[in-house]
Amino acid sequence: MSSASNSFIAQLPKAELHVHLEGTLEPDLLFELAERNGIELPYNTPADVVAAYDFYDLPSFLAIYYKAMQVLCTEQDFYDLAFAYFSKAAAQNVVYVEPFFDPQAHTSRGVEFGTVIDGIHRAQVDAQAQLGVTSNLIMCFLRDMSAESAQLHLQVAEPYLDWIIGVGLDSDEKDNPPAKFAAVFKDARAMGLKLTMHCDVNQQDIVDHMWECLELIDVDRIDHGINALDDPRLLKMIKERGLGLTICPISNRFVVQNLTGEEIRQFLQVGIKATVNSDDPAYFRGYMNENLQALAQDAGFTNAELGTLTRNAFEICWADNKTKNALLAQLDEYLAAA
Ligand code: HPA
Ligand code: ZN
Repeated sequence: MSSASNSFIAQLPKAELHVHLEGTLEPDLLFELAERNGIELPYNTPADVVAAYDFYDLPSFLAIYYKAMQVLCTEQDFYDLAFAYFSKAAAQNVVYVEPFFDPQAHTSRGVEFGTVIDGIHRAQVDAQAQLGVTSNLIMCFLRDMSAESAQLHLQVAEPYLDWIIGVGLDSDEKDNPPAKFAAVFKDARAMGLKLTMHCDVNQQDIVDHMWECLELIDVDRIDHGINALDDPRLLKMIKERGLGLTICPISNRFVVQNLTGEEIRQFLQVGIKATVNSDDPAYFRGYMNENLQALAQDAGFTNAELGTLTRNAFEICWADNKTKNALLAQLDEYLAAA
C-alpha cells in the first residue's frame, strides 16, 4: 500500500481535538497585536521571531509560548487570534475543532476572564456561520499553578458554562501530577464538564500520571499519552474504556525529537482510538495537513491509516450525537469516493 498523497490529505474532512489557541499565534499577528497594544517586541521582523524558536523540550517551548501571548490584551485580540485559527482550519478542510485556551495565562497578567472568553466565543460563532467550522471550547488549567487557582478559575467560569464543553490540564508536567487537581476535576465533572489531561511524552513519572488519570480522575480522554505503550496493563485499560489519545506528531518531533509514527501505528494495531493533532501549530510550523503529511511522507501512513485516525477523532469528540453522526457521514462519503 502506498503512502497517502497530499491531495487525499488536503480534501479529507478532519477534526482537531488538541490545539491550544494561544499556540496558533502566528508571528505576523504577534507583530500586529504588539503594535496595536503599544508593546515592544525584542524582534525586528516576523522572520526573526521564527528564527528565535529554539525549543527542544517542554519547558523551553513553554517559556517562548507564555512570553509571546502577552500581546493578547483585548476582546478583539482574542477574537482575531481565534478567527485566524478557524480560517486556517477551514482552508485545510478541518470541519470540527475542540480548541484549548489557558485563562490563567491571561488573568495572571490582569486580563479579565470575560475578555478572553467573549472574544473566543464570538470567533466561534462567526466561524460556524461564515466558515462552516463547528467548535466546542475546552478550558485548561495550568498545572504549574496551584490547585486553588484552578478552583477559583472554575468558579469564575461558571456563568459561561454553556460555552465550555470540558476542562483540561496543561503546562509543565514535572512534579505537577494529575492528583494535585483531583478535587477541581471532581467539581468540574459535577458541573457537567468533560475531562481531559495532558500526559506529555516521556515526562518524569509519566506512567504514574497516566494511572492517576484513569483511576483517580476518570478522564474522558488523554492528551498525548504516547507512554501508554510502556505499560501493557495501562494499554489494556485504555482500550477497554475506549479512551481516545490526542497525539501531536510534529510537536513530538520538536519536544522529544521523534515523530512517533511507529507508536501511533501500534495504537492503531491494538484498536486504541489514537488521533492526529497540531498542538501549537504556529510554533511547530505545522497545522493538521502538515501533521498528516509528515506521517505519510516520513512514516509511510496510507489512506486507510489516515482514514482510521480521522474516524477516531470524530468518534471520540464531544459534539452532540446529531453533529457527530453528520460528521461521520461526511467522512464516510469522502472515504468511499477516494
Ligand atoms: N503540553 C503542555 N502544555 C502546553 C502544551 C503541551 O503540549 N502546549 C501548550 N501548552
Ligand atoms: Zn498540548
